[in-house]
Parts: sequence; C-alpha cells; structure tokens
Amino acid sequence: MGGQDATMVLLDENGIRCDGRKIDEPRRIMIKAGGLKNADGSAYIEFGDNKILVGVFGPRDVHPKHMSDTDTGILRVRYHMEPFSVSDRKNPAPSRREIEISKVIKEALEPAVMLEKFPRTAVDVFIEVLQADGGTRCAALSAASVALADAGIPMRDMVAACASGKVADTIVLDVNNEEDQAGQADMPIGYMPSLEKITLLQLDGVLSPEEYKKCVEVGVNGCKIVYELQKKALNDKYFGTKSD
Ligand code: CDP
Repeated sequence: MGGQDATMVLLDENGIRCDGRKIDEPRRIMIKAGGLKNADGSAYIEFGDNKILVGVFGPRDVHPKHMSDTDTGILRVRYHMEPFSVSDRKNPAPSRREIEISKVIKEALEPAVMLEKFPRTAVDVFIEVLQADGGTRCAALSAASVALADAGIPMRDMVAACASGKVADTIVLDVNNEEDQAGQADMPIGYMPSLEKITLLQLDGVLSPEEYKKCVEVGVNGCKIVYELQKKALNDKYFGTKSD
C-alpha cells in the first residue's frame, strides 16, 4: 500500500487521478453480447485496458453424474488468464488467484441465476482474460452476466460489478492497476440493481466505518453505470440494428 510519495502521484491538487480521471469517473467501458458461434451465450467486455471474453454452455448434462444435484442445477465458473494477458508472462497452470476468483464469481452469480429451474444439469461459464489491468474480477462478472442472459438462462437480475477504493486518502470509483498496487484500499462489488442486492463484496486494505460506507455507496453507483451498459449490449444484439 502506498505512502506519501505515492499519494502525491495518485491524485493531484485538482482531484485528477493518475490516468486523468475524476474521483467518481469509471474507465471506458464497452460491452458486446454474443460473438462466439459455438457457445450457447457469450459476451466481450473492455473495461479500461481489461479485455475479457466469456462463453456460456448449458444447461447441459453433468459429467461425472454424481456431481449433479437432483433438486437444482449447478453453476460452474472457470476464470482463466492468458499467459500474455499481463506484462510478466503468467504460468498457464491455474494459479491460486484464478481458483479464488472463479469461486467468488460463481458465488456472486448464483443468487442471480434460477438454478432451481433446471435440476440435474450444469451451466458452465468460461472466462478468458485476454488483457488484464486491474479489476478483472468485476469486469469478468459483468460480462458473465451478459453471457448468461445471452444464453437465455433464466435470471432474477443481472449482476453488475465495479470496484471502489481508497487512493490518496480519497474514496474513488473503479480502481485501476496502478491505484490497486499503490493505493490504500480496493473494494470489488457485485450488485443486482433491480433487486438492490449485493452479491460480491471484497475488501483489500483498511477503511474506517465511514470510509467503508462511502466505498459501498460509490461502488454501487459504479455498478449502476455498468448495468446500463449491460442492458444496452443485450438491446443492441436483440433489438438493435447491429448484425451479430
Ligand atoms: O484483476 P483483479 O483486480 O480482480 O484482481 P487482483 O488479484 O487484485 O489483480 C490485480 C491486477 O494485477 C490484475 O488485474 C492484473 O492486471 C495484475 N496481475 C498481474 O499482473 N499478474 C498476475 N499474475 C496476476 C494479476
């Protein structure tokens, strides 16, 4: 976490961050629904310099069969970073971090997906991080929701995700990689806007109770921005003029 020097670089006297953004400004976000012919549903997201592709398969038979549940469907999520997605080549073998992120994304999606509607089956979500620049779990979770909707999986709501954090003693929206490394706190949030329910909340760093509340508020507002773009992506594919 950053000290005084990092503080001065991360936020200037005009409240402008290291990448030129204001404290409540997200990075550029582009979401596209569909695109993968062989998947039942798919989505692509660019969130700042993050580039992530998601493919959804199912509901389909579970192998091995004993992994299935007679009462409900199951959701399986694999978050995977390409070796070339970061500046230091990443070992292609699944890392502890990828296993953890797969688990938190699965748990963040489960409240949204009506798994009870397709017992004995599985829905698989494959997340490929092509380029990473801080905040991949939020970007991946947002794209996964769109890919699930694109696959026609019944859902209560989409999960929109965005991080907030503390940089130079200030609560900011959408922490980038540099801020994540040198900042004071990072709080990824997943939120279902229509249901007003948080499904993911992690915190790396230390916050006072007031800062914590502010971080949640700022992060949820970011999720609402992402949600509009998720809906737009689906509207563009299914009701828009763009061909896919
Ligand atoms: O990506 P996210 O912020 O959700 O997770 P993180 O574990 O906080 O990782 C922050 C960033 O570190 C990633 O987005 C990557 O840009 C970078 N990273 C890296 O450079 N090399 C790795 N092996 C893993 C992550």
